[in-house]
Amino acid sequence: MHLYGTMRFNSKGHLEIGGCDTVDLARDFGTPLYILDEAEIRGKCQLYRSSFGKGPGESEIVYAGKTLMTMAVARLIEEEGLSLDVVSGGELYTALAAGFPVERLYFNGNNKSREELRMAVKAGIRRVIVDNISELHLLDEVARELHSNMKILLRVTPGVEAHTHEYIQTGQLDSKFGVGLANGQALAAVREALGKSGVTLVGFQCHIGSQIFNLDSYRAAAGLMLDFIAKAARETGFTCRELDMGGGLGIRYNDQDTPAGVEDYAAALWDAVEAGCQTRGLKPPKLLVEPGRSIMGEAGTTLYTVGSIKDEPGIRKYVAIDGGMTDNPRVALYGAVYEAILANRSAAGSSELVNIAGKCCESGDMLIWDLPLPSMHRGDLLAVPCTGAYNYSMSSNYNRLLRPAMVLVNDGEAHLIVKRETYDDLLRNDIIPERLERQTRPKSMGVAL
Ligand code: LLP
Repeated sequence: MHLYGTMRFNSKGHLEIGGCDTVDLARDFGTPLYILDEAEIRGKCQLYRSSFGKGPGESEIVYAGKTLMTMAVARLIEEEGLSLDVVSGGELYTALAAGFPVERLYFNGNNKSREELRMAVKAGIRRVIVDNISELHLLDEVARELHSNMKILLRVTPGVEAHTHEYIQTGQLDSKFGVGLANGQALAAVREALGKSGVTLVGFQCHIGSQIFNLDSYRAAAGLMLDFIAKAARETGFTCRELDMGGGLGIRYNDQDTPAGVEDYAAALWDAVEAGCQTRGLKPPKLLVEPGRSIMGEAGTTLYTVGSIKDEPGIRKYVAIDGGMTDNPRVALYGAVYEAILANRSAAGSSELVNIAGKCCESGDMLIWDLPLPSMHRGDLLAVPCTGAYNYSMSSNYNRLLRPAMVLVNDGEAHLIVKRETYDDLLRNDIIPERLERQTRPKSMGVAL
């Protein structure tokens, strides 16, 4: 298996991440456990800044908080000089609670509520990315009520749909996000925005998909966005000063995946923007990107303990772990393919094909099919890498399983950054209405176990 970030096997034959022995981590923090490799996160942030910084103009890296957002993560992102994109009141609240600088906060999303927009305007964040005309009206109203003015980017649907390995261009993209280019909606939205006193239009944003390998998708999208920038300038006199090309760069989950590097991605985008501006006689705008997965994905590893092992001779062998679709729903949702490694015994001899099962009560809760692993025993530790993006952020309490703890590891030190949920956390929001109340119910929530 590919070793990511600071992963290595130590002299005891144990997997180490950030200089921490995963056997010790399992003992000290329990499993399932999300392990975050701080050096890997910082390295990716720095690579993004230096790669985009090599371009001919100004750039800004806006980390997409939906990927993984905790207060400690917000701190790391801040320290590395990135900006932060939030997509809900909850993410905004987390960023504000962590003291993230408001002048580096962006707000995306296709249906921000009045309350969420009020929060953003009151906090004085840098940009709201307005998704549609209805939201434009709402934000204008909210900003005026608060005697304020919000600088906005307008989300445009350029009609490029990127898939993992290729892209297609459609005349008019059917999407819940953004205002369409092809149908004139985008231009209408520019006209509307320019006439509103509660908002100031600064530029445009697009986001063409996620886990993208083919840089041609970005080149195509940049070309269409520049066409639109030129058209908007011609027809409305608006000068676009910021172009936000969204996120989406793919990562390697398994050996079928062949992602482009961050440097090539930055060069492709800058080349497309620079050349495209030249041919259209435009002044190059500031370039923004909103990476998520390509910053956080490879930094995360989930550590599980092996439990039941069930061999169906002639059919398959199931190895069950103490988590599953609750901490990593990507397999059940998207058919994502992960690799895994035995963390507590490196030189464990010959391997056999096993199937890693989660502990939820449904057959679809499988984590990995046909994985070559040494013979496994109850109590072994299994490490699944590449779980930093869209795992904790999409986790659930299905079957009333507890969300795992998360530790940040670096230079041989491990710090707890998300506590493991407790059974009492599960009860925290439950209410028994009085008419269902038992006379003899004890006062304390404590349950004798
Ligand atoms: N900007 C916008 C407006 C987005 O919608 C997204 C992701 C990003 C940036 C960051 O994209 P990234 O660099 O992470 O690809 N849950 C799915 C991924 C959903 C992506 C949603 N939008 C998954 O687990 O694969």
